[in-house]
Amino acid sequence: MTGFAHETVLQSEVVELLQPRAGALILDGTLGGGGHSEALLERGAQVIGTDRDPRAVAAARARLARFGEAFSAVRADFRDAEGTLRALGIDRVDGALVDLGVSSPQLDVGERGFSFSRPGPLDMRMSGEGETLAELLERADVRELTRILREYGEEPFARPIARAIRAAVEKHGAHSLDTAGLAEVVSHAIPRKAWPRSIHPATRTFQALRIAVNDELGALAAWLEALPRVLGKGGRAAAISFHSLEDRMVKRAFQSLTRECTCPPGFPVCQCGSNPEFRPVTRKAVTASEAEVARNPRSRSAKLRAVVKVR
Ligand SMILES: C[S@@+](CC[C@H](N)C(=O)[O-])C[C@H]1O[C@@H](n2cnc3c(N)ncnc32)[C@H](O)[C@@H]1O
Repeated sequence: MTGFAHETVLQSEVVELLQPRAGALILDGTLGGGGHSEALLERGAQVIGTDRDPRAVAAARARLARFGEAFSAVRADFRDAEGTLRALGIDRVDGALVDLGVSSPQLDVGERGFSFSRPGPLDMRMSGEGETLAELLERADVRELTRILREYGEEPFARPIARAIRAAVEKHGAHSLDTAGLAEVVSHAIPRKAWPRSIHPATRTFQALRIAVNDELGALAAWLEALPRVLGKGGRAAAISFHSLEDRMVKRAFQSLTRECTCPPGFPVCQCGSNPEFRPVTRKAVTASEAEVARNPRSRSAKLRAVVKVR
């Protein structure tokens, strides 16, 4: 069994917002290293943990075995939270959590192809299934690549980078490039004086390609959409995002779930029919404390939001 050590972010904050009472059933959509699940189990909750990465599932099973039947781990995509619960014969849960993005072990193992600092094949699939990065690069034209880099990476040099990647793929074939080679192609496409100071010049491109390979925004949209059907009355949902696009999606979805009556103040009875099923638990995103950021710099960009289902 390989370890799957990942430093959990906003652990106590998640527990505080989900408020698990003893015996409550929580669906942790992103098991990763199992840190959030562990904290929830320690509070007496029962946890079903899912991850699309079979290594995360295996490691969490081993790490959390001491909780016996209170914990179960399933390899599944959180985009299908409803289907996962149905397959287990469960109708509703009392809490649902996602802690988005990748986990440290996925970035740290070169062969998984996520990292420009650890050379590996152009893979980037969290689940090990579906289209690899090499296949995506073989298929996508400059226009599509530019869109991916601009939208998911907020990369100002999206077009020149997309052109350079396309040219390298046409010349050598994506399968003969590795992550270090791709990072070099990307770096050369950005004028040296515009290289970011604190991150590798290929960081934004790698993030964008990872989001595209794993359809991360599609998964989040499906999870958000399913919340009213997955949570029982009093159930709480919490999401941690590390990317402004994801945080915007969570914020908008939670706003729409919790939207109060929008009738003008003079109306004697509500005409808009808005009777929200959810209430906000957080008004603003919860962020990591200075102490946590000092301990774990990755937590700097984490944003946590939560809602509760009231009927
Ligand atoms: C940031 S880590 C979670 C860390 C975890 N909360 C902890 O405390 O250790 C994100 C995990 O979510 C998984 N993941 C990402 N997208 C997923 C999806 N759509 N369905 C299931 N798991 C997903 C990744 O494989 C990764 O292990």
